[in-house]
Amino acid sequence: MLMEVLSVLPLRPGAAVVDGTLGLAGHAREMAKRIAPGGWILGLDWDEEMLKEAGSRLEGIEGVETTLRKADYRELPEVLSQEAALRHRAAQADAILLDFGLNSAQIDDPNRGISFREDGPLDMRMDRSKGESASSLLNRLSPIEIERILEEYGDENWAKRIAQVIVDRRKNKPLRTTQDLVDCVLAAVPPSMREKRIHPATRTFQAVRIAVNHELDDLQETIESIANMLAPDGVLCVLSYHSGEDRAAKRAMRDLAKIGFDEIIKKPLVPTPEELAVNPKSRSAKLRAIRRQSIS
Ligand SMILES: C[S@@+](CC[C@H](N)C(=O)[O-])C[C@H]1O[C@@H](n2cnc3c(N)ncnc32)[C@H](O)[C@@H]1O
Repeated sequence: MLMEVLSVLPLRPGAAVVDGTLGLAGHAREMAKRIAPGGWILGLDWDEEMLKEAGSRLEGIEGVETTLRKADYRELPEVLSQEAALRHRAAQADAILLDFGLNSAQIDDPNRGISFREDGPLDMRMDRSKGESASSLLNRLSPIEIERILEEYGDENWAKRIAQVIVDRRKNKPLRTTQDLVDCVLAAVPPSMREKRIHPATRTFQAVRIAVNHELDDLQETIESIANMLAPDGVLCVLSYHSGEDRAAKRAMRDLAKIGFDEIIKKPLVPTPEELAVNPKSRSAKLRAIRRQSIS
């Protein structure tokens, strides 16, 4: 939903822009071009490899200062304050983008263990320098805790059975690989599920990834504190792909609308049929945006 994001954000020469989820800099490149000359773009990602790749993709855009930091967007208020102070700028942004989730490069890398399509270590951490891997989590939690993760983050109908198979199997052999987890799911779901268009392990993998990375923890509060870093007339765009993310964005924006912000997209925008034809993976995307009122 690149065009929608670009049309909603106030991108003008000299603007200060924050991309809290830089990824491969697809949005950041286009935003950067629109704030030259004199603009500043601060990009965050918690994945070292994304930052490296984004850095090379942002090279060569004239008239814009680029700052990239390896950080969780939950730290965005502190990072923006620190980086702005170094530049004698106000710790405020004219435009902020949060494009949640992960990109195909991360999903397709078997070493990360995010996808059930390739066998690899059952890791799933986006920042592999810290935190607990998926295998450690699934080998440690109680069946009830695993069931709750699968239900809450994956809406998985067979959560109880999958959790039980995981716990039974790990007694003999702890889960180590993505294939171990796929095998647990296949053993737990009825055979008819295996013929469905969507792979039976899809929801389990999504749910475990969300739990491993704490993707939904404190999300509403985080969005609210990030919106408070906007300059007057500044806009925050939030692109979500999971019902839990969109719920947090919706609640945050409703609360912010009571304290000096205007929701500028009342009903979330979804991809057009044209975008879906080119990029079917965008099918669950929802875009919301909020603007800080100007000081009168
Ligand atoms: C959907 S991709 C962003 C794609 C990007 N807008 C582009 O055009 O290339 C999401 C990115 O956000 C990063 N990410 C997800 N959660 C994060 C968090 N809590 N803090 C920092 N980065 C995060 C992921 O590592 C991934 O690179």
